[in-house]
Amino acid sequence: MTRPESSTTIVIFGASGDLTERKLIPALFNLYAKDRLPDNLHIVGTARSPYSHDEFRRHLRKRLIDGNGSASDAELWESFSQQIWYQPHDALADDSYQQLEDFLETIEGTREANRLCYLAVAPSLYQPIIEHLGRLGMTDQSHGWRRIVVEKPFGHDLESARKLNDILHHAFDESQIYRIDHYLGKETAQNILFFRFANTIFEPVWNRNYVDNVQITVMETVDIGHRGGYYDAAGVVRDMFQNHLLQLLSLIAMEPPASFSADALRNEKVKVLNSIRPIDPGDAVLAQYEGYHQAKGVAPDSRTPTYAALKLMIDNWRWQGVPFYLRSGKALADKVSEIIVEFACPPVMMFGREPDEACFSPNVLSLCIQPDEGIHLQFEAKVPGSGQETRSVNMEFHYRSSFGGDALPDAYERLLLDALNGDASLFTRADEIEAAWRLIDPLLCAADEQHDPLPTYRRGSEGPAEAEAFIAQDGREWRRGCHGYEGTDGPD
Ligand code: BG6
Repeated sequence: MTRPESSTTIVIFGASGDLTERKLIPALFNLYAKDRLPDNLHIVGTARSPYSHDEFRRHLRKRLIDGNGSASDAELWESFSQQIWYQPHDALADDSYQQLEDFLETIEGTREANRLCYLAVAPSLYQPIIEHLGRLGMTDQSHGWRRIVVEKPFGHDLESARKLNDILHHAFDESQIYRIDHYLGKETAQNILFFRFANTIFEPVWNRNYVDNVQITVMETVDIGHRGGYYDAAGVVRDMFQNHLLQLLSLIAMEPPASFSADALRNEKVKVLNSIRPIDPGDAVLAQYEGYHQAKGVAPDSRTPTYAALKLMIDNWRWQGVPFYLRSGKALADKVSEIIVEFACPPVMMFGREPDEACFSPNVLSLCIQPDEGIHLQFEAKVPGSGQETRSVNMEFHYRSSFGGDALPDAYERLLLDALNGDASLFTRADEIEAAWRLIDPLLCAADEQHDPLPTYRRGSEGPAEAEAFIAQDGREWRRGCHGYEGTDGPD
């Protein structure tokens, strides 16, 4: 057998953690099952736990296969797991890196070896790992590419994000850095661009002349669970708005890119983020669910918000005067992520209304990110048999009915594959992440200066009453446009 010329290695720092078990290994396993991974691949987990290779494989298998995997999964796991290795590693110890390098060279055994390092560790370990990799020359690309994936949270505020960017740029070129935001890996988030730019009928009305307002809702039923330590220092604005919600907003609001390349896309996203007017703290509602203080790791007098609603204005030609309302929270009634584009009323009302009367039911386009992935368009139709009565009806596209039940891969599958293929389109660039922090920072500072107790909301509710009043003062209401899929699983 001839020895392969090149190989690829994924090094996971933080391999004994939850992200590795819950997301990274399942995504790699699914890619393996679909035969989409590079030939001659090694997956090397590193962490402080003293596993042997076999113990590590068994530990991963327990979660992925034992209990919920099928017989064919179990069979596939046997061959997949032969590519998994474990190297004990202390992120703070110099000699651990040399040992890691020696181990990688041993298993790779090829002239050219590409390497993807994945930081699935606590953010406090980012700096030492990046600096060690740089110092030891492990970022040098003379014998294969070297890339690094950095998980969120990327910094805690603008200053720390800038510092982290500096640390990264000391060791890596920007083209080697993949800052992950898993929302961008969701098919439905990617489809926003295809919906807008692969069709002719929507883009002409995608502007201030036709759109009254845009609403982005990301609701979760889960509370903070066991993440009190992290969450109490972060809160919903850092945890969800700085990244996921602003990313969704930039996909909805950006101009068409010159091409579908990473830089062309990201240039447009940065442009739109930079056009958002600084947030007026009066245009925000922050709230906390009742009983939040009882969670482990939460300070007894914590004012950390678990819910926020914001109004953002974009000062550019396309969106001047169109409010973008964003809301997200934990411990709410539903798990749903959706974007509502509410269109303006017809210029003249007919059908039983005064010409200048506001319309009762505007046209609403709903982009359903999850869980019922699809797109709905609500418009008015004449009620059969009536004189002039209209009623809102829905035109619906559901991924499950058009593409089948298994059509939507997990976000991590797509993102890992893109990082291996060197496509950074769905990853956040340094200036993009700083633009997002620049927007959010003043809101965080204003919140820190407040001492009044936060409004609270009932667990399992739609959120605080203040959020309803907040949008009502603009003469609008929160809308929900995505609702349960009732069809059969399978293509039309
Ligand atoms: C993560 C946040 O980035 O996104 C979590 O840290 C949140 O708090 C999660 O629960 C939501 O992601 P998804 O894909 O379940 O909407």
